[in-house]
Amino acid sequence: MIYDLARSLLFTLDAERAHELTLETFARLPKLATLPFSARAVDDPVELLGLRFANRVGLAAGLDKNGECLDAWARLGFGFVEVGTVTPRPQPGNPRPRMFRLPAQRAIINRLGFNNKGVDHLLARVAESDYAGVLGINIGKNFDTPIERAADDYLICLRKVYARASYVTVNISSPNTKNLRELQDEANLRALLQQIKREAEALAQQHGKRTPILVKIAPDVDDEQLDAIARVARESGIDGLIATNTTITRPGLDAEPLARETGGLSGAPLAPLAERTLRGLRQRVGDDFLLIGVGGIGDATTAAARRGAGADLLQVYTGFIYRGPTLIGECARAAQSGVT
Ligand SMILES: Cc1cc2nc3c(=O)[nH]c(=O)nc-3n(C[C@H](O)[C@H](O)[C@H](O)COP(=O)(O)O)c2cc1C
Repeated sequence: MIYDLARSLLFTLDAERAHELTLETFARLPKLATLPFSARAVDDPVELLGLRFANRVGLAAGLDKNGECLDAWARLGFGFVEVGTVTPRPQPGNPRPRMFRLPAQRAIINRLGFNNKGVDHLLARVAESDYAGVLGINIGKNFDTPIERAADDYLICLRKVYARASYVTVNISSPNTKNLRELQDEANLRALLQQIKREAEALAQQHGKRTPILVKIAPDVDDEQLDAIARVARESGIDGLIATNTTITRPGLDAEPLARETGGLSGAPLAPLAERTLRGLRQRVGDDFLLIGVGGIGDATTAAARRGAGADLLQVYTGFIYRGPTLIGECARAAQSGVT
């Protein structure tokens, strides 16, 4: 009800301005993010990767790129939070406008391009917060770092965030950073993950703490690429995969003029593709490998279906924009009862 009102006001603004305004408000006044009694947070603790998730529904990366509002997200009942993508140096991202709402389809197209204040700023904000839940930190490369040197950027970020992160996500699937998705190709992925694992092992020694490493992949991969990703993920010794990022395809959007905007599509039209990718990964990696399902989860049905397709945990972004905080509890309950 309250969110319906807030949303109708926010939706009168440009999509990115509404986003900024919400984050500025939550950063300053986290107590505004208090759930009504009827929508109490779902308490369904689950242990995975040696971490205790308050419930199975997390905030997906990209909504709070700079880690400004952790206390607000916890108050809204997220079971875990992933911040970022951050890069070694701050960068402005692509020219505006670069984020578009497609309300009829409950979708968003964005070509933000990793706009963020840099990894040091993120760590400073995290240090200021009281958040004590599971914190994923999602890392990427600066737009002007050549793709052949991408590993350098991931390693810089990994070293900086390792001690504070509950888990680290290696994002190789944004469609808005030139050639980034080439890192999903078998040889590139193997080389990158070898370097990351080697560094993570050294950091584990140094800090006396083992931080799990996850890799986030695109939905725009064919069966052969899925074979390779699953194989390399298992061989490399990383801890899990997140499927999926946004899609560069436009399923069912032929009549939608905004569909011609360049960028990644998220929300309801992405759900079948993201579910198919998740299911394909589960078939390939076996039962004992962590998978986080994300992409088009917008109600209890899609949440339960993603659990059924093999997701241990779920994340939401676009559904949260359209449905507000009630979505979190709805999905967390569906994920709780969902059968895997
Ligand atoms: C505006 C916007 C910005 C995003 N930024 C990031 C990002 O920085 N890093 C990332 O890994 N994913 C990013 N994503 C992808 C989401 O985390 C998620 O994987 C994708 O949107 C699919 O989930 P959804 O349909 O629930 O939105 C972004 C998505 C949107 C809509």
